[in-house]
Amino acid sequence: MSPGHQIIGAIQLLLLLLCSLLLPTPSMTSLLKTETDDFIDWWQHAVFYQIYPRSFKDSNGDGIGDLQGIISKLPYLAETGITATWLSPIFQSPMVDFGYDISDFKSIQSEYGSMSDFEELVHTAARLGIKIILDFVPNHSSNQHEWFKKSAARAAGFEDYYVWADGQLDELGVRQPPNNWQSVFYGSAWEWNEQRKQYYLHQFTKEQPDLNFRNPVVVQAMDEVLLFWLNKGVAGFRIDAVNHLFENETLPDEPLSGQSTDPLSYDYTKHIYTKDLPEVLSMVQHWRKLLDDYTAQHPEDSTRIMMTEAYAGLTELMNYYEDSSGIMGSHLPFNFHFITDVNRESDARDFVYNVEKWLIYMPRGHAANWVIGNHDNPRVASRFGSASVDAMNMLLMTLPGVAVTYNGEELGMEDYRDISWKETVDPPARNAGELKFKMVSRDPVRTPFQWSNATNAGFSEAAKTWLPVHPNYLEMNLEAQQQAAKSHYRVYRSLIELRKLPILRRGKFSIEPLSRAVFAFKRTLKDYDTIIVVINVSGKEQLVNLTDFIDRPQQLIVEVAGVDSSYEPGAFIFLANNRSVSQQLRLSASAGIVLTEKQWGMSPQRRALVRQLIKSFNVVLVALLMYNLWRHKWTKVNFN
Ligand code: NOJ
Repeated sequence: MSPGHQIIGAIQLLLLLLCSLLLPTPSMTSLLKTETDDFIDWWQHAVFYQIYPRSFKDSNGDGIGDLQGIISKLPYLAETGITATWLSPIFQSPMVDFGYDISDFKSIQSEYGSMSDFEELVHTAARLGIKIILDFVPNHSSNQHEWFKKSAARAAGFEDYYVWADGQLDELGVRQPPNNWQSVFYGSAWEWNEQRKQYYLHQFTKEQPDLNFRNPVVVQAMDEVLLFWLNKGVAGFRIDAVNHLFENETLPDEPLSGQSTDPLSYDYTKHIYTKDLPEVLSMVQHWRKLLDDYTAQHPEDSTRIMMTEAYAGLTELMNYYEDSSGIMGSHLPFNFHFITDVNRESDARDFVYNVEKWLIYMPRGHAANWVIGNHDNPRVASRFGSASVDAMNMLLMTLPGVAVTYNGEELGMEDYRDISWKETVDPPARNAGELKFKMVSRDPVRTPFQWSNATNAGFSEAAKTWLPVHPNYLEMNLEAQQQAAKSHYRVYRSLIELRKLPILRRGKFSIEPLSRAVFAFKRTLKDYDTIIVVINVSGKEQLVNLTDFIDRPQQLIVEVAGVDSSYEPGAFIFLANNRSVSQQLRLSASAGIVLTEKQWGMSPQRRALVRQLIKSFNVVLVALLMYNLWRHKWTKVNFN
């Protein structure tokens, strides 16, 4: 070998040494890994999309949504960026409360499809990366359930499946219910059963008798229901009305609340003996253990989770996460505070307080969650006004933790308030009567999904749908919003996209009211451009001075702006230190904006690119070296 070749060989060896130094060390690799997986479990940052199956998509033209309809729309969910969905009940039911009155916990309602449709749904969803969460309704069954029929007949083993009690005689000797407990849906919570000659308890409609969770056989039977669906491949459960599970066994009258003068109204009494009893927590913990054990026994799939529905006090909700002795309960006790604790009268301080209180009280190591709509409450556009739709979705998607979207909220669908008494089907609305039904009806929020401007908004080919379609569907529909250059749906999609950034997954959070009209919050993470969200909750345009909120006068870039915004995504906003009006952010009424605060120096994205380039460079060098060694035959390299 010539001296020239020897020199080349030596240089190559040197390069190889250098390369090995430059190649990522184990700690660098784990740093890169952290950036992609975040060590966050799938559910801790998911967007859970609630589907109300009856109103989502009808595949067979009977005017009622069904499982094949949902299957046909799974690609839409995947394309939108949804990775988990929870379905309101799809089980066999006489449909008095539209599926929340279940007559067989282990079979599918025939108008929704078959068990094989359900299996297809789970498999197709899994293929598209979407997890299915089912609604588990433990507090009650339908009065058409075999268990209830047997219990009413005092069949052996079923006597105590439900909550039965004798009545009492009044001064006139007339039989009366055991006490003054009221149903959530109006009227006494007790119904006389002629066959058994006793009253049974129903916290909801009289067709929804309360199961008796003090009976271990019932607990066991409901555990089997959970296992049955887990074996079908579901990723977990949303647990219905969980805080109603237990009542005081001695059946005392509840004290008057002073909030209503109507003794038949649920608000007439304080529910100290029928709601939030300590036994509820033990049951939630029992189900958590069942889910954790199942996950441990079936590690091929990810964590099976529980989301609990309880309109309860903050302390109770926090105990669901984890009690004072550290026993785990619900993965996600639903946070309804954006539904119950703020409205269009609320100012920026109310919103800030609302967010802070959850985060302050939440035990460490848990995931926050934010629910802005569901099938029981007016839609965002109807609660806060349609101008607030984008701002509320911005809030939902950029706060730390889990986001829960009710189907249609990605379009800003509105309640259809003009459903007539004749068309009204919701049980509490029917109970309220023709004069008052509009005050409580949940039908307006359950109208069919507005897919397009075709017949019945593309929901169904039927002559009549189970609830009327909102007449605004001609303009307000998904197809129109997909085609438009700017739309609520487009904003929603960009927010889901943005949400994938590590900074929104695990960045630190701080929030402040900037005035009564406007609040802002920041997400910060080392090496990442800070994200700033500014929301105007007032009905007037606001000029916002951000220079007090951000540390240095910065260059801000618009990430996401609402449909009515004058700012375009990608635009730079220059905020100088002096407070001249032209350097303030202009936010129209009820609008929000998501900005990134550019860091000086190399951006994290660019840093990652450089790292990638070095890696690729190394690979090329090693390949070159190997090639040369092969050409000049390694054995012939002589350094002497
Ligand atoms: C809560 C559900 O969300 C609601 O729709 C239902 O009517 C009641 N629980 C009773 O199951």
